[in-house]
Amino acid sequence: MICRSSIFAAIGIIGLVSFGASSAFAAGSAASGAKLFTANICSACHAIAKGNPSPVGPNLFGVVGRKAGSLNGYAYSPAMKAAGLTWDEGTLVKYVMSPSIVVPANKMVFAGIKKEQDAEDVAAYLATLK
Ligand code: HEC
Repeated sequence: MICRSSIFAAIGIIGLVSFGASSAFAAGSAASGAKLFTANICSACHAIAKGNPSPVGPNLFGVVGRKAGSLNGYAYSPAMKAAGLTWDEGTLVKYVMSPSIVVPANKMVFAGIKKEQDAEDVAAYLATLK
């Protein structure tokens, strides 16, 4: 893995470790993440209430533990369906920071959250949607 900074490397390692762990990875603040979810306009494209249709992207209720590109009834890009990821807080941090690097050719039009701490907070918030 090529890492851009030691902080990014640390997140990468945490991400790999949390692949094996079942839960309880909590580097971020869910309360802050809830605000960032709106501030970063995730909420403009993604519904978060169970079963609600999304305006643009897939509903994110229960996204942690879900296989990427697997929500029934949502028309994912072939890239997302073939990503071979299962979302956990580590993979979500990486994806929201660099969507087009983590899943090349996916159709989420979002440049990425710049600050690692913000991405960790958003991931922690997404983990509460269950
Ligand atoms: C402009 C609309 C838009 C914005 C803004 C956006 N997304 Fe997305 N998102 C999408 C689309 C469209 C997809 C489906 C991608 C595909 O199929 O290739 C997606 C996919 C995802 C997935 C994968 C879900 C799955 O079921 O596999 C996650 C997680 C996600 N987005 C989180 C976020 C977060 C967190 C934010 C804010 C930081 C955000 N998105 C901002 C449109 C958006």
